[in-house]
Amino acid sequence: MDYKAIVFIELGGESVPAGRIQISEDGNHTRSIFGYGRGYLERADAVAIDPVQMPLTSEVIRTPEDFALFNGIRDAAPDAWGRSLIDKYVLRKLNRPANEAEFLLASQSGTRIGALRFGANPTRPGQALSFTLPDFSPSLGDLAQFQELVDQVGRDERPEEHLMDFVSPGSDLGGARPKGTVLVDGFPWLVKFGKEGDRVSMARTEAGCLDLCEMAGLPTCERDVTTIGGRDALLLKRFDRSQDDEGRVRRRHMVSSLTLLGAHELDRSASGYADIYDALRRYGAAPAGEEVYRRMVMNVLCGNTDDHYRNHAFLLGEDGRYEPSPVYDVTPSLQVSSSRAMFLHLGRAGAGREARLEAAVDGAESLGLQRAEAVTIANELSRMVAANWRSVMQARGCSAHDIEMIENSFSEAGRTVEPEPKDPGL
Ligand SMILES: Nc1ncnc2c1ncn2[C@@H]1O[C@H](COP(=O)(O)OP(=O)(O)OP(=O)(O)O)[C@@H](O)[C@H]1O
Ligand SMILES: [Mg+2]
Repeated sequence: MDYKAIVFIELGGESVPAGRIQISEDGNHTRSIFGYGRGYLERADAVAIDPVQMPLTSEVIRTPEDFALFNGIRDAAPDAWGRSLIDKYVLRKLNRPANEAEFLLASQSGTRIGALRFGANPTRPGQALSFTLPDFSPSLGDLAQFQELVDQVGRDERPEEHLMDFVSPGSDLGGARPKGTVLVDGFPWLVKFGKEGDRVSMARTEAGCLDLCEMAGLPTCERDVTTIGGRDALLLKRFDRSQDDEGRVRRRHMVSSLTLLGAHELDRSASGYADIYDALRRYGAAPAGEEVYRRMVMNVLCGNTDDHYRNHAFLLGEDGRYEPSPVYDVTPSLQVSSSRAMFLHLGRAGAGREARLEAAVDGAESLGLQRAEAVTIANELSRMVAANWRSVMQARGCSAHDIEMIENSFSEAGRTVEPEPKDPGL
């Protein structure tokens, strides 16, 4: 079956039609073709939705082998959590599982990540499938009901009909943990819900890690922890949105590192922080070596081994160049062992993934840093995290049990690296 939709991108506060996508589902494979519209290509402010797989061209573009969607389009689609919600909805309404095209197009609410929207015709974004999810924007007062839906889905139950309104604001965001968008004084915030069976307060430990990242000089978004029905949730102000002088909410185009790397999400072996740095040298606004390095070191120090491609994102600036988004999804791993592997290589592919301060320093050269500079930053951050992580977590309301559970994740904090590499004695 073929699904056709107009792809809109917000430019200068307006959603403008950029082109047409056709997604073909044959039951086994999904692939897509896309063409930019002539009118769009003639615009002086036209930007590529994906600079690698969808450069601005008048030719029809096809997804490379093994890609169901172009990376830049896929970034606007949900991951595991959103997909499970859409699946529940389609199963209930149409009595069958949802497919890739439906995961992308089901929500018309405009809260999806970044500046893309979809629709059936070029006039305005809207319904792009034969069905659409109910367009509903919850506010803080609705969080208890939203949490009910999360719990029912978490237990793999059929959600109650009166909770189906929450499918849309929960289903168009990435990531695996339950989440949704809520309006706070008319501005969208992302809410990450607690799950039954969480071993620690994920909301409080994640907020604490973001506090430490901010202390490390990294950009972070405004955040807060709230409690819904006895369970903690993390509120994160959406950084892909801004407010203009008249108070209207504007969307900003955002892509994951997969898009800038032109990589497939299952391609686990290929890339490391150095490849992200290289991609930023190509598409980025300003030299970002030190910032990428600080992010890498903070992931090591907080024991965040879940530093995968979709946990690095880039926002498009008005000059058509990308800049790293504020840091997000930094969480301590709850492993017992103090030997840990990161998802990304600490340096160029093949540089190793061991979550050690030394490995980070060794990888720094591939991010354009001198060793001496890298050692100074690593040691400074290591001492800072060691001196502060407990009090930061306590200030976020973590319990003694939470702190005990995450202690091992911070095992690198306080360690320091010698300015010169140790003579291996050979
Ligand atoms: N403050 C924010 N503003 C805008 N978008 C955000 C914000 N925080 C996260 N995102 C986007 O939402 C997605 C999901 O968030 P996040 O990575 O925190 O969720 P998660 O479920 O913990 O992810 P994972 O599956 O990696 O564990 C991110 O990949 C990013 O695209
Ligand atoms: Mg994530």
